[in-house]
Amino acid sequence: MENKSNEFIALEEKYGAHNYHPLPVVLERGEGVYVWDVDGKRYFDFLSAYSAVNQGHCHPKIVEALTEQAQKLTLTSRAFYNNKLGVYEKFVTEFFGYDKVLPMNTGAEAVETAIKLCRKWAYEKKGLAENSAKIIVCEQNFHGRTTTIVSFSVDKEAYNHYGPFTPGFLVIPFNDVVALQKVLAENADIAGFLVEPIQGEAGARTPDDGYLKACYDVCKQHNVLFIADEVQTGIARTGKLLACDYDAVHPDILILGKALSGGLYPVSAVLANDEIMHVIRPGQHGSTFGGNPLAAAVGIAALEIVKQQNLAENAFNLGVYFRKAMSEICENSTIASYVRGKGLLNALIINNQKEKDLAWEICLELAKNGLLAKPTHTNIIRFAPPLVITQTQLEACVEIIRKTIHSFE
Ligand SMILES: Cc1ncc(COP(=O)(O)O)c(C=O)c1O
Repeated sequence: MENKSNEFIALEEKYGAHNYHPLPVVLERGEGVYVWDVDGKRYFDFLSAYSAVNQGHCHPKIVEALTEQAQKLTLTSRAFYNNKLGVYEKFVTEFFGYDKVLPMNTGAEAVETAIKLCRKWAYEKKGLAENSAKIIVCEQNFHGRTTTIVSFSVDKEAYNHYGPFTPGFLVIPFNDVVALQKVLAENADIAGFLVEPIQGEAGARTPDDGYLKACYDVCKQHNVLFIADEVQTGIARTGKLLACDYDAVHPDILILGKALSGGLYPVSAVLANDEIMHVIRPGQHGSTFGGNPLAAAVGIAALEIVKQQNLAENAFNLGVYFRKAMSEICENSTIASYVRGKGLLNALIINNQKEKDLAWEICLELAKNGLLAKPTHTNIIRFAPPLVITQTQLEACVEIIRKTIHSFE
């Protein structure tokens, strides 16, 4: 690595908490599918900030919305009305087909909000006994990092030594509707089922077609809320506006974040219809920054781009091409096993029997060759470029991946 990078890496090492293990690349600029490091080297970004940058880095229309609003009014708190929030609320609810939105900032906050909303609905509408409500979640879930959320994680790294944990969660296998039926049949105190339509952090674990619909139907039979965490899968990433669209499921509670801002600013949201959302009344939930005018302006611009630039369609079509190209690479490889995913949320499974850190080594080599990706769970490399990527650019990326994998054979 060049000296310039080392200086910045040393600063983070010395002054920052060591809660991440980044690739040794120091970025200073981004545009569309590209990022540049401090030494001027250009890379394809195949992480997109964990799918927050679906619209591409520094999209000019979102930058314009942000800077224009930043010069007028940025934060009022919800103690007062402002002339942006209502406009955004109308826009986002119509965009996704819900009566109401509850605006927050990060994905984890939105998940927390959904959990509170679901529990409150269960006590006030479903009639469960106070403090008895349970929410069903899936193995290998990733919903964020708060204490309550890690309480139902099965990843030891995520929960170890953070107890005592929040009770009230039942964990079942992912992609197993029979397991869901069984828990629902055996427990009368279930409030909701919280699921990622594709498990992103687990490495684009993609369920069978029809799984979400079957789960939704079972939830309906038991008067249980179907809660979709589309923080990573939503906003065109998987080739549809929402991953739930593949099964024509309209979740009772929809959780969005990340690309809701195109990566410029933390914007998250919980959407639901009136009979659910009305259970939260003034003073019962909120956030100083949630729903601020800057976030509202950015949110509208970010969603408009998704429609105007047909990002879902692009992700769908290029995803088909990408998985075919990756499958061909796997056929001729002893280290790349198979590819899975939908749209442009994909993962390459690495056979790391020979070498434990192989996926990490491959990512280092990919970076040298001009493509940034990061391993998840030691043997999986997620490939999730900005959705504005073109066929020609993606072909160049496939060549980089092919060449890199080949160099390890
Ligand atoms: C499905 C899902 N939910 C929630 C989160 C948490 O979002 P944030 O990091 O903004 O809190 C993530 C982040 O990766 C996610 O993938």
